[in-house]
Amino acid sequence: MRTIEWHDGVVRMIDQRKLPHEFVEVEFTDYRDVARAIKEMYIRGAPAIGAAAAYGVALAAVHSSARNRSQLLADLKEAAGVLRGTRPTASNLLWALDRMLAKAEDQALKDIREIRLALIAEAEALADEDVEINKRMGGYGAELIEEGCSILTHCNAGALATVDYGTALAPVRTAWKQGKRVHVFVDETRPRLQGARLTAWELMSEGIPMTLIADNSAGYFIQAGKVDIIFVGADRVVANGDVVNKIGTYKLAVVARENGVPFYPVVPTSTVDLATASGNEVPIEERDPEEVTHVRGQLIAPEGVRVANPAFDVTPHRYITGIVTEGGIVYPPFKKALRAVVEASRQ
Ligand code: MRU
Repeated sequence: MRTIEWHDGVVRMIDQRKLPHEFVEVEFTDYRDVARAIKEMYIRGAPAIGAAAAYGVALAAVHSSARNRSQLLADLKEAAGVLRGTRPTASNLLWALDRMLAKAEDQALKDIREIRLALIAEAEALADEDVEINKRMGGYGAELIEEGCSILTHCNAGALATVDYGTALAPVRTAWKQGKRVHVFVDETRPRLQGARLTAWELMSEGIPMTLIADNSAGYFIQAGKVDIIFVGADRVVANGDVVNKIGTYKLAVVARENGVPFYPVVPTSTVDLATASGNEVPIEERDPEEVTHVRGQLIAPEGVRVANPAFDVTPHRYITGIVTEGGIVYPPFKKALRAVVEASRQ
């Protein structure tokens, strides 16, 4: 299953807002619709957002009425600007757009026909690489999983958050395929319930043993010694190793440290932002208050209540045991090790 695919000038993606009760795919030919789909979370999860943005640029190229290179580049930059403005926190979005624009500007491409074809190929390559990278991270992460291991995860950093296979769920999938007995505690992940709706659906579809828990009970199970290891994804990891991920991740990391439970973000290097020194410099997306006041369309708070709804938080690097990447597991001190793994990935 791929969350997003390209078919003859059309982008097809799963509408994740409808899961787990309905499996619906939608098709777009206009990059503005892809931008809207990212913003409204038809597709979500940092690597999947990156792939969607890349396909958005490919759509803009294919459907542009430009007659020459400079007109096409102007159209592509406009499209990239719209896509860039959709969600502010995920590194992969910016990384994918930069990669697509660099390809568009490649002087080896002779004319606009070649640019269009190259952009389609680049988006397809980015999507294929995502799956391959996730499988590699799965291999490294699975080495941390022992027979009978109990894992806890937050939000959805599974296949649905990527093109396929997932980040935080990749080690779980690989360990399961290796025949290890595992069990996963799944945080429901208020307010959008990505854990309850998406991670639970993914794990149950594959028959991987799991238990859904309310976010508030994670500390209870960790303290009771029921959790051996925690895997999460990330929207951005910055130069000093601070991890920006779904709101609630920080609280989980602190409780993990207090109880001696290892805490590992699983992160492709496309999520690493070496240009930002520390996590508190990362823009944190603030989302619609309705995500907090309503559950599945139903008002649960007094009308007119004041709401704050940050979508992500920052886990300081001191709480992180190691970061699983496609180039191996990086341990503290993170600054040098992260730079080395990112540079190796770009060679
Ligand atoms: O708001 P979302 O659902 O896009 O947030 C997703 C997460 O926080 C994931 O943990 C992160 O993007 C990594 S996904 C592999």
